Amino acid sequence: MGRVAGKKALITGGAQGLGEATARMLAREGAKVTVTDINGAGAEQVAASINEAHGAGTAFAFQHDVTDGARWQEVLQAAHDAMGGLNVLVNNAGIGSLGSVEDENFDMFRRVQAVDVDSIFLGCKYAIPLMRAHGLGSIINISSIAGIIASGNYIAYNTAKAAVRHMSKSIALHCAKTGGQIRCNSVHPVFINTPILDRTKEMFGEEEALAKLGRQIPLGKVGEPDDIAYAVLYLASDESKLVTGIELKVDGGISAM
Ligand SMILES: NC(=O)c1ccc[n+]([C@@H]2O[C@H](COP(=O)([O-])OP(=O)(O)OC[C@H]3O[C@@H](n4cnc5c(N)ncnc54)[C@H](O)[C@@H]3O)[C@@H](O)[C@H]2O)c1
Repeated sequence: MGRVAGKKALITGGAQGLGEATARMLAREGAKVTVTDINGAGAEQVAASINEAHGAGTAFAFQHDVTDGARWQEVLQAAHDAMGGLNVLVNNAGIGSLGSVEDENFDMFRRVQAVDVDSIFLGCKYAIPLMRAHGLGSIINISSIAGIIASGNYIAYNTAKAAVRHMSKSIALHCAKTGGQIRCNSVHPVFINTPILDRTKEMFGEEEALAKLGRQIPLGKVGEPDDIAYAVLYLASDESKLVTGIELKVDGGISAM
């Protein structure tokens, strides 16, 4: 039996990077998964490859820009109907932007809040009533270590990811008070080797970029997507049934400094 056997999970931003690794991990451990992304073709490819590995009907895909509330409702219902329920929501889609409070453009600041924060409000608002009908449920919001440790050059992302951390606690307390079967936690990755690092790799070359980022982390290296997928797996499974409102740091020790 897999660690999430029988669970039905929706993962946003699942066409690549951490979302893809998480969808593959949950499917490997027995869940049905729905992969959504603004890149619909990418989401379809990931779902097709999961179905090849684990059998038809394991994975489904929908195009979805997570800032679109009306589409959230359609996609959640479609995912629920395709999988036969909904127990796990992984709010993973996110974007970053480099810039200080003086340099950052306000439109970009707002866009980062819309993709990283508004999306989670919308997703949770519409998913919780559907999840309640299916027993134990788990919401996992992918924040960042940047939601805990600030940098002068990351105003939009620091603001957004800190909001995700606190929003998750509010959702956790609401869910605890209204029935108690749904938990909500945030995950805080340090640098992980996904396409989100492409720009840094272009600037310094891949090897130097990874070494440079790794030197900032006590454990000395950038993480792999499965380092985060394993954290999500734990929070998605009933192994963590007493865990709600926590901030799970997967950060190589950086926040201990
Ligand atoms: N990789 C890291 O170093 C790292 C560290 C900390 C936190 N995170 C967070 O983890 C999450 C995943 O990051 P990643 O490294 O896999 O990034 P990524 O850029 O490789 O993948 C993000 C995915 O989200 C999708 N996406 C972007 N905007 C969207 C939108 N509006 N609607 C739907 N989908 C959208 C993209 O198409 C892409 O498939 C993000 O929330 C990111 O902030 C990543």
